[in-house]
Amino acid sequence: MISVALDGPAGAGKSTIAREAARRLGFLHVDTGALYRAIGLDALRRGGDPKDPAQVIPCLEETQITLDFAPEGQRIFLRGEDVSQAIRTPEASMAASAVSAMPEVRQFLLELQRDLARKHDVIMDGRDIGTVVLPGAAVKIFLTADPKERAMRRYKELVAKGEPVEFDTVLREVEERDYNDSHRAVAPLCQAEDAWLCDTTGLTLEGSIQAVVDHVRQKSGVTG
Ligand code: DC
Repeated sequence: MISVALDGPAGAGKSTIAREAARRLGFLHVDTGALYRAIGLDALRRGGDPKDPAQVIPCLEETQITLDFAPEGQRIFLRGEDVSQAIRTPEASMAASAVSAMPEVRQFLLELQRDLARKHDVIMDGRDIGTVVLPGAAVKIFLTADPKERAMRRYKELVAKGEPVEFDTVLREVEERDYNDSHRAVAPLCQAEDAWLCDTTGLTLEGSIQAVVDHVRQKSGVTG
């Protein structure tokens, strides 16, 4: 099995790029952020504080997350309910960032992620895939872009979905999440030593996808 670890900050286009690159290569795309989002959403729905480990950790055993890989992409279920859309709100983003700082949450999700990589050729996107989850991945990519450009992409996405948002709020959230994700004690966002740095600032989406596909083909010898 071939594993591609694709890490990077919020809004660098990881999921969109990974989904399409995986389709072209015939790999499974695993969006690990969705797992943290589902746990964050669960905490919010219970009416708890997603920042409080004493409220989040005891509920993990009842969380029951399952993934389904349809041709159009990954779907995520929380106790059987499809929450693929519900996890995409700004509140769920902040809750995901909060729960992802807890070592127990990261440990809880580790085996699920490794198991997928044992069974399938994967492009797994996240923050700590190349450093913690799959340190032996054949290909490691660290995908980034300027914070303003990342915020603008996310802003346009939310506006297209009809979410009432201000650009400044989105930029603040991107910066806050960057800070949280790279300053937490456990598995902080950082580039693996052996990862290839791919900066997509100023690149088109197609240019970014092609750069990733070319790099994976070159490193892994996959020709598909
Ligand atoms: O990629 P995303 O925006 O869907 O991620 C949601 C949150 O989960 C984000 O704050 C970072 C965190 N995360 C993580 O800590 N480790 C991962 N492998 C994936 C996401």
